[in-house]
Amino acid sequence: MSVLKIPYGKQNINEEDIKAVVEVLRSDWLTQGPMIERFEKTVAEYCGAKFAVAVSNATAALHIACLAVGLKSGDILWTSPNTFVASSNCGLYCGASVDFVDIDPKTYNMSLQALQEKLDLASSMGKLPQILIPVHFAGQACEMEKIANLVKPYGITIIEDASHAIGGEYKGKKIGSCAISDMTVFSFHPVKIITTGEGGMILTNREDLYKILIRLRTHGITRDPLFMDGESHGPWYYQQVDLGFNYRITDLQAALGVSQMKR
Ligand SMILES: Cc1ncc(COP(=O)(O)O)c(C=O)c1O
Repeated sequence: MSVLKIPYGKQNINEEDIKAVVEVLRSDWLTQGPMIERFEKTVAEYCGAKFAVAVSNATAALHIACLAVGLKSGDILWTSPNTFVASSNCGLYCGASVDFVDIDPKTYNMSLQALQEKLDLASSMGKLPQILIPVHFAGQACEMEKIANLVKPYGITIIEDASHAIGGEYKGKKIGSCAISDMTVFSFHPVKIITTGEGGMILTNREDLYKILIRLRTHGITRDPLFMDGESHGPWYYQQVDLGFNYRITDLQAALGVSQMKR
């Protein structure tokens, strides 16, 4: 008897994708070349967001998104329990504690009632979170407007974990537009909608966050005199102003991403 095996995931790679990657292999840039900016611009324009920062994976994206808004030891992050470990680990990386807002059994997304109840309780105990990460489960958008209305009075930052939701829409806008959030994160792991092998991206409309994210992606290093201690000594000169990471994506991956975005 033959057994039908259903794979956990199966990426879709065509000849155009292969050509795009080979072109980069023959070019002068394997990392931090022109394809990364092109990939960022392609995704930002598609989603209708102002800024995009491509990184090595969505876990890294969630980590620096939390750092960019200053999440630290003693702080609290809430997310959905129906997700992958990365949506909560990003809080732990920053030294914060993590708690979960239960899901709606009809949508598998964050329950508005559970959120309301948890906010009321946390507010009475003085234990409100600094960050809320709703997860758009399997491409289905969370009730973002209602979530935002509930958390806004408390000044809570919203980071959308849209790791499996690029291409999804909410109220006529693409997920990733950040119309109702501070940042949105995508994953480009092969089980996601489009792939770059490994890869992730943060979208935002806030220039202040964009500038921090760009630095944190590359060791906390800047060449912008505006952020330096003292004067710049020329275009080659850089300073490390934050403790950042090497969370860069390669040009090879970005070329695959640009090609995948065409479909
Ligand atoms: C909801 C969610 N968030 C974050 C991630 C982490 O993505 P990555 O593998 O790109 O780090 C995943 C991956 O499966 C995910 O499903």
